[in-house]
Amino acid sequence: MARRILVTSALPYANGPIHLGHLVEYIQTDIWARFQRLRGHECYYVCADDAHGTPVMLKARERGIPPEQLIEEMAASHQRDFADFLIAFDHYHSTHSDENRALAELIYTRLAESGHIERRTIEQLFDPREQMFLPDRYIKGTCPRCAAPDQYGDSCEACGATYTPIELRDPVSAISGERPEVRQSEHFFFRLGDFTEMLRQWASPDHLQAEIVNKLNEWFEAGLRDWDISRDAPYFGFQIPGTEAKFFYVWLDAPIGYIASFRHLAEAQGLDFGAFWEAEPAAAAQTELYHFIGKDIAYFHTLFWPAMLHGAGFRTPNAVYCHGFLTVNGQKMSKSRGTFITARTYLEHLDPEYLRYYFAAKLGPSVDDIDLSFDDFTQRVNSDIVGKLVNIASRCAGFITKHFDGRLAARLPQPELYREFAAQAERIAKHYERRDYARAMREIMALADQANQYIDAERPWERIKDPQQREEVQGICTVGLNLFRILVVFIKPVMPELAAAAERFMKLPEQRWADLQTPLLDHPIERFKPLKTRVERTQVEAIVEASRDTLGMAPSLAGDETDKTVRKGEGTGEGKGEGETQETQGQAGAKRQAQITIDDFAKLDLRVARVEHAETVEGADKLLRLELDLGGERRQVFAGIRQAYTPEQVQGLLVVCVANLKPRKMRFGVSEGMVLCAGPGGDQLWVISPAAGAEPGMAVK
Ligand code: MSP
Ligand code: ZN
Repeated sequence: MARRILVTSALPYANGPIHLGHLVEYIQTDIWARFQRLRGHECYYVCADDAHGTPVMLKARERGIPPEQLIEEMAASHQRDFADFLIAFDHYHSTHSDENRALAELIYTRLAESGHIERRTIEQLFDPREQMFLPDRYIKGTCPRCAAPDQYGDSCEACGATYTPIELRDPVSAISGERPEVRQSEHFFFRLGDFTEMLRQWASPDHLQAEIVNKLNEWFEAGLRDWDISRDAPYFGFQIPGTEAKFFYVWLDAPIGYIASFRHLAEAQGLDFGAFWEAEPAAAAQTELYHFIGKDIAYFHTLFWPAMLHGAGFRTPNAVYCHGFLTVNGQKMSKSRGTFITARTYLEHLDPEYLRYYFAAKLGPSVDDIDLSFDDFTQRVNSDIVGKLVNIASRCAGFITKHFDGRLAARLPQPELYREFAAQAERIAKHYERRDYARAMREIMALADQANQYIDAERPWERIKDPQQREEVQGICTVGLNLFRILVVFIKPVMPELAAAAERFMKLPEQRWADLQTPLLDHPIERFKPLKTRVERTQVEAIVEASRDTLGMAPSLAGDETDKTVRKGEGTGEGKGEGETQETQGQAGAKRQAQITIDDFAKLDLRVARVEHAETVEGADKLLRLELDLGGERRQVFAGIRQAYTPEQVQGLLVVCVANLKPRKMRFGVSEGMVLCAGPGGDQLWVISPAAGAEPGMAVK
């Protein structure tokens, strides 16, 4: 019977590009969704951008654009990356959407009405210059336990202590550099403890991996704490109904984005929304709901989320599947090593299906981390995909085209070999279903070896020379191509494009799993074209080179706002942002100040420029458009100095320009450099100006 399945991946933050670490998850989920569809089930795969929160707000501010514009750009870039990696979402939405607002308000209101929301006044650090309360990750200071300087507001990397930012000594706001002050504010809390019994029941091996069940038991032992779901203005998010300037914490409305995305899809396609989300046992019995996530966000998905759903009258998920983290060449992804690789950089050099295959070959059902080793990657793709799988077709197709008018034989000389392969279908399906793709890939490649051995043993290239044996050659190649067809369908969830090309080559309609039980006989095929080419070392090297950030410069001050203390306090030890986050997530905080060598410094082409012309930019209240004279060369630069300067004030000034900065396309035009300023930002900015006597074009050293 056809199952009705809804699958999700975690919603990527809208403050950075998709990187290979993210792709572990989207590829893992996409393979599973494609597999279900291939088996003839009704399976929807939805996702969305996670658009809210402080990092998005600050990043937009830093770029001098409204957050709405930033999240629009990010949504477009994320969706391009996903599409190019063949991630086939049925719908991709945004948490900053009407559907999500309505659902967040509904869920919150229901929770509040049933007494699960409590208000309490708490003390927090407040940045007097920025006029905002500071998330823990935006506060630095001295550890109250071991006195290590320069530690984050929630934990010490030197001694491992966890504390509240108020306990930190000599705290400094990472946004303004000011000393924050303690202020009071009323916050809203979700009473997670009310759901302890419900969660204990839910947290069974039916719904979760064994490792996660163990983790949950630890959390239960420690006792479930209330969860702070409100933030004060300024905040980019949804205002809490019935409040003046309180907003939902980003993690409150983020998972609700799963529902919002499906709601949009359901409305567009006329699907039965209630059957997938209502709590009635009848509905839950006929549909299935699965969330794929990384282990860093297990707390949110296995405690808060089922509790919120249950408390608000929605169904709970059938399972939450956690995967581990990606390391590259055995280490954390790192910009300086060139292993912090964005999806786009990879795509500029290599075939997306190679990464899909490689991840599949490494992914099992556990939460273990997986490693991308470049040597292993190159070797595996070349040997498995090119050397084994595609090789079967390329060894057989030529004979059929050249000697048999492009037509397969009418019967199989070895029907038992075909049956043996086809009989693996259920086994391999089980591996996919259990998310043991590594095992599925191993068995598919073992079959590919077997198919190649068959061709080796039958020696069609010799027999073709003997007119007596011509017919046998047609039979052998027909067997070979039939085995190839089976393997292609087996691997289709992982390599859908390879499968589509193979279907065209064999003049086949879109193949389903069930089609494999019937061999392809007396059937025309196309002339064979190589389906995949080898990976060259130079391609991998080019990716690393393009990803290397030699200056180790932090792209922006945009930490991960995720509230680790909730999980730390509960003893997960895997909180997002605990070291790992800084580099893997590409959101370098103020902390990472790598040293550079004199050679690194020499890479900066700093030059004196004169501001020839300056003007405001329509729609960007932080930017001025400058036309610079760099000694005969004219450049356009968009500088985020509008709050500090009027166009008249900068016109004619000598400034220092980073002349070899990669041009950046902005909504208003291309920015071809950067003007150096001092100060924390906003209206507190001073253009750095060379003393009189300097001339446009001079080098600055
Ligand atoms: N926005 C939240 C999720 C909200 S879901 C309601 C978030 N976003 S994220 O962009 O940081 O991460 C998205 C997913 O990618 C998460 O499941 C995360 O675990 C995963 N990964 C991010 N970096 C990763 C690696 N380096 N390795 C493997 N997965 C990683 O968390
Ligand atoms: Zn310490």
